[in-house]
Amino acid sequence: RPRSPRIPDRSIERGNLMDSPVVTLTRNGAIAVVTIDRPPVNALSADVRRGLLDAFDELADDPGVAGVVLACAGRTFVAGAEISEFGTPAFSEADPNDVHAAIENLNIPVVCALHGTTLGGGMELALACHYRIATPTAKLGLPEVTLGLLPGGGGTQRLPRLIGAADALEMMLSGAPMSAQTALEKDLIDVIVEGNLLEAAQRFVGELVATRAPLRLASEVDVDRASVSPTLFAETRTSLAKKARGAIAPARIVDCVVAAVTRPFAEGLKYERDLFVECMNSRQSAALRHAFFAEREAGKLPGNLAGNAKDMDLRPIRKVGIVGAGTMGGGIAMNFLNAGIPVVLLEVKQDALERGLGLIRKNYEATASKGRMTLEQVAQRMALCSGSLEYAELQDCDLVIEAVFENMDIKKAVMTRLGEVCKPGAIIATNTSTLDVDVLAAASGRAADVVGMHFFSPANVMRLLEVVRGRDTAPEVLATVMGLARTIKKVAVVSGVCFGFIGNRMLEPYLRECESLLLEGATPTQIDHAVEAFGMAMGPCRMIDMAGVDVAAKVVLERRKEGALPADPSYRTACQMLFELGRHGQKTAAGYYRYEGRTPVHDPEVDRVMEGLAAQYGIARRSDISDEEIVERCLYPLMNEGAKILEEGIAYRAGDIDIVWLNGYGFPALKGGPMHAANVIGLEQIVACLDHYADKRGNAFGYWTVAGLLGDLAAAERAFGDA
Ligand code: 3HC
Ligand code: NAI
Repeated sequence: RPRSPRIPDRSIERGNLMDSPVVTLTRNGAIAVVTIDRPPVNALSADVRRGLLDAFDELADDPGVAGVVLACAGRTFVAGAEISEFGTPAFSEADPNDVHAAIENLNIPVVCALHGTTLGGGMELALACHYRIATPTAKLGLPEVTLGLLPGGGGTQRLPRLIGAADALEMMLSGAPMSAQTALEKDLIDVIVEGNLLEAAQRFVGELVATRAPLRLASEVDVDRASVSPTLFAETRTSLAKKARGAIAPARIVDCVVAAVTRPFAEGLKYERDLFVECMNSRQSAALRHAFFAEREAGKLPGNLAGNAKDMDLRPIRKVGIVGAGTMGGGIAMNFLNAGIPVVLLEVKQDALERGLGLIRKNYEATASKGRMTLEQVAQRMALCSGSLEYAELQDCDLVIEAVFENMDIKKAVMTRLGEVCKPGAIIATNTSTLDVDVLAAASGRAADVVGMHFFSPANVMRLLEVVRGRDTAPEVLATVMGLARTIKKVAVVSGVCFGFIGNRMLEPYLRECESLLLEGATPTQIDHAVEAFGMAMGPCRMIDMAGVDVAAKVVLERRKEGALPADPSYRTACQMLFELGRHGQKTAAGYYRYEGRTPVHDPEVDRVMEGLAAQYGIARRSDISDEEIVERCLYPLMNEGAKILEEGIAYRAGDIDIVWLNGYGFPALKGGPMHAANVIGLEQIVACLDHYADKRGNAFGYWTVAGLLGDLAAAERAFGDA
């Protein structure tokens, strides 16, 4: 029950008596200020928790203090528990629930001052305070679920008590942060203040003291029954079974909220802690935490480049040119427009230009019609976008990206023109997916300015950007583009030059095995189901049908012409044949499947095509292909190719490869990417399996040859990414 604050009989001025480098306690008259200062995001590590315990212990014994402000230095309030401590001994030191109890048990008001992102353990800390005050731009959230965790510091117990079970579930299951304004409307915070937050917080707590305002304890409130409809939990679980297939953390979050509704606070807290530890120790959470750090690491230039990056003069990008306003050009343009960077689109013909500009407008209007942006915003973005048929219009661009047809001669001509027209210091980028970036760079006559920017389709939606480092790309060009990627909210990964870069190169053995399996007797449905049961968002047959069998087949045809494919006469023949038959995928309502609307349906005609090809190439059909064989044959060669990419220095880090596959190819997040998944399966096991297929199927074309790096790591019982 709300208690009244203790009013001190004297006020004193004292400095920090504690011995913590990350938490300080200062006094301003009768108001104490506890400040956490642990850059970059004030993560709640063991030393912060210890510092907080010390501070609140000291305050409990200090009759001169009437109220407390808890705040953070730097760019944000606490953005969560220190993720790198999970699963280490530090995790068990200084229980966050003890910190929260120390705050709740203080008999003077504690006001939390929130700025930046109050997330996870930070949010739980705030929930344990008696009052919360925030800046207008503050964001609050419990994103633990995105790391395969649940809020493990009382969040699942306090939040439903404060905002009701339904809203709490929504917040914890989505992991999405809410704005300060929304938090205010939900009574999650008490006041939003403009100006100096710390001063406002001290005034606020002073008023609480003066008015003897009650100490509000979330732990002592009951969950509002009106927020728990009879079907709430059952419906939530049903929807999770569809949306979060196989994920542990969301289901446990529901269990915890049930406990918040049905059990006393202390019991619920203990239950939450047990389930948190279960999640923390799960492979799913390990995979998601790996991805969290790998994503941040991928954005950094390695080795010498990283050391130099700070001293590099990055090139300012204030205006962007895009050559080719087709599918990719338009999507790429939207990224820059969304970031407020003006774009000029260059086309060969007026009608193509108008079509391109029209498509961008249509896309924005569609977003507006769904209420996700205003018509005013549409107008603002379109005002930043111009079109032209004249190269001269590109003269003042700081970056020009070519996105014309995938044809070497056309692209070389465009690069030559850009080399002449672009101002000195401008960056020239190519969006090619298959052509040699070094050849294109040479055509520009200024290779140091050239870099690949391989966007994925739809380019305004897909987060992945492969940044292709050419032989002569200047370090500051690479660093500028990596920084720019952040501005346009892409996850950028650096790749060296090779066919297909990181992602599509690894796709090749995956598709090769898929097509071999089809010839041997597996059906598209069986292959897709097996791979989707592993967790891939979409099996290979459905994926090619969506991307276009024609697109895939043309790449194979081109490479065959270049003599770049294995001498195997049956190599990727399935896709060639479907292309010849006019089965171009979803767009022709027939490909690996027949389509009823967008629904793929098994087509016996495809079986006959595959039987014919098997007969033509003397391949025996069999009916004993298991799901296990499908997964091993499709995915292990892909992982093996990843090892080759690493040993050739095409990718800097195993984690970079994971980020490419997680963000560009629907690899299951709960498995952390192909290289992380290989580590979990065990590299020895992967090697043994590749050897097994080499033995069973023959290895005339080197398909099963184990990559040197993979073999070495397996022999040394090490893993990808080990230092
Ligand atoms: N623990 C450890 N390090 C963290 C961290 C955390 N919770 N949050 C961010 N960092 C690190 C990043 O790794 C990065 O380090 P680096 O500079 O060495 O690469 C640095 O902080 C800056 O992070 P970003 O590059 O992501 O910076 P942004 O400004 O883009 O984003 C952010 C900041 C919104 C705070 C974002 O980092 C983020 O979402 N962090 C994770 C938040 C989160 O998931 N919190 C919940 C943790 S689990 C928990 O609290 C359990 C509890 O219930 C018991
Ligand atoms: P598209 O055919 O939709 O668009 C190409 C556009 O370039 C057309 O509008 C055409 O008029 C224009 N164009 C051709 N020659 C030109 C020239 N000399 N000057 C100015 N404009 C010219 O092609 P799409 O799909 O947009 O592909 C473009 C590039 O993006 C290709 O290199 C492709 O490999 C790459 N890419 C495509 C992906 C996809 O999924 N479509 C994914 C990733 C990269």
